[in-house]
Amino acid sequence: MKNHHFLLLTRPAQGHLNPNLQLAKRLASTGARVTFATTINGRNRLKSLRTFDGISYTFFSDGHDHAEPPKNGDFTTYMATAKTVVAREVTRMIQTFAEEGKPVTLLIYGFLLPWAALVARQLNVPSAFLVVQTATVFAIYHKYFDSRGSIYNGGCNIESSVSVKISNLPLFSSSDLPTFLLPTDQYFATSAYFNEHMKYLEDDPKPCVLINTFHNLEEASIKAIDNIQVIPIGPLIPSAFTDGNDPEDKSFGCDLFDSNRSDYLQWLDSKPPHSVIYVSFGSLAVLKKEQKVEILQGLLESGRSFLWIIRPSDDDEDEAVKASIQEGSSGKGIILSWCSQVEVLSHKSIGCFVSHCGWNSTLESLVAGVPIVGCPQFSDQATNAKMVEEVWGIGVRAGKTEGLVEREEIKRCLDILMEDGERGEEIRQNASKWRCLALEAIKEGGSSHNNLKMLLDSSYENTL
Ligand code: UDX
Repeated sequence: MKNHHFLLLTRPAQGHLNPNLQLAKRLASTGARVTFATTINGRNRLKSLRTFDGISYTFFSDGHDHAEPPKNGDFTTYMATAKTVVAREVTRMIQTFAEEGKPVTLLIYGFLLPWAALVARQLNVPSAFLVVQTATVFAIYHKYFDSRGSIYNGGCNIESSVSVKISNLPLFSSSDLPTFLLPTDQYFATSAYFNEHMKYLEDDPKPCVLINTFHNLEEASIKAIDNIQVIPIGPLIPSAFTDGNDPEDKSFGCDLFDSNRSDYLQWLDSKPPHSVIYVSFGSLAVLKKEQKVEILQGLLESGRSFLWIIRPSDDDEDEAVKASIQEGSSGKGIILSWCSQVEVLSHKSIGCFVSHCGWNSTLESLVAGVPIVGCPQFSDQATNAKMVEEVWGIGVRAGKTEGLVEREEIKRCLDILMEDGERGEEIRQNASKWRCLALEAIKEGGSSHNNLKMLLDSSYENTL
C-alpha cells in the first residue's frame, strides 16, 4: 500500500482552522502522514497550538506576514498579492516534500485559496476543496455561479431582490442569502473568489468537495449540487464529543485568542442542569455597543445565569462597555474573553446558546443538543439561522431583519427555549434528535465515517 501524505492548507481564521485541524487529527489517526499548513501571519497571531501524533505543522507566506488581516477596501489588493505568493509557496511545498521522499498524495485546500487547486493540477497532485460552511451555502454559491458568473466578471451588481430555490427547502430570499453575494455587503469583493473556486472545480476533470456536514442533515442541498462530487465528512468536532474514540480529544487544539479565566467550567459545575445561557458571536463579528446593551438587558430580564464571550478589543470604548456589562450583570453572569466552546456547550448546565450562527458554532451546538437563539451578523450566518429555525427546528431566530435586536425580542426567544412551553419542548426534542443523528453519522459505519474511509481508500488508489 502506498504511503499516504495529506497536505491541508487553510487560511488562519478560527472558523477555518478548527475544522481543518479536526480533519487532520482524523486522518492522522488512521496512520497517514499529515501536514497542516497555514500562513506565517496566522502563526504570528496564534495564542496556542497543540502537537498531535502524526501531524506536522508548516507555515507559508501569503505576502502579508506582518500585516493586519484585510479590511474592506484593501481586500482585492491583498488577495492579488496573496495569489502570486501562495501559488509559489504551494509549489515549493509540494516539490520539497517530493524531494524528501514524502510526496503529497492529496492536497486539501480551503476557502480563499482557490489557486492552490491549479498548482496541484499542474504538478499532478490530486486535490479536494474543504468547505467549512454548509452544503446549503455551497449549493447557493454553486447556483449563483451557474447563473450569474458572467455578471461578476462584468463587475455588475446583482439585484437586491434575488432569491434562490433549492428543491425541498424553503425559498431563500435576499435577506437569507450569504451576505458576501450581496453588493451592499462590505465583503462583496470576496464573491469573486467563490467564482474562482467554482471555475477551478468546473475545469477539474475530477472535482472533489469535502463538506463539514452530514448526509441526513443536508440531503436536499447535497442533491442540488450537480456535476461536482460532494462528500459530507462532518461533523468535524473533537472526538470526545462525537465518536468517543479519543476521550482526551476535548478541544480543537489551536486558538487565536486567550481566556482571561480558567475556572469557568467549575463555575458551570455549580449551576443546575440546563439553567445557563451561553452567549458568543464567534471569532470575527464585533457587536455595536447598543446591541450589547440590549443583549445584557434581555439576559437580565430573563433572570437566568449566563456565560458571555466578548473578545478583547483594541478599542478602549469597547473595553469600557465590556467592564460595565460585567458590572451590570448583577452577579448573574460572567464575561470571558474566550473559552473552550465545545466543552462549554457540552456542559450539562447549558440550556441554550445565543449565537451568530457561524457554521462551526451551529454544528457544535447541534452535536451538543443545545437549542439556539440565532442573531446572525454577516456571511453565511443568516442562511444558517434560517435552517436552524425552519428546517431543523432546533432554535429560533431573534429579529427577522437586519438592525438592532431589542431586549424584548431577546427575552422572548430565551423564554421560548428555557421555559416549559410546547414550542420549547418541540425544539428540545428536535435538538436531541439531531444530536443522535450527528453522532451516528460519525460513528464506525455511519455516513460520514464511511465517506472518510472512501476518501482514504480512493486516495490510496490515487483515483480521485
Ligand atoms: C467564520 C464565519 O463567521 C462563519 O459564519 C463561517 O461559517 C466560518 O467562518 P466565525 O465567525 O469565527 O467563523 O464563527 P464559527 O464558524 O462559529 O467559528 C468559531 C469557532 O471558534 C468555533 O469552532 C468555536 O468553537 C470557537 N470558539 C468561539 C471558541 O473556541 N471559543 C470561544 O470563546 C468562541
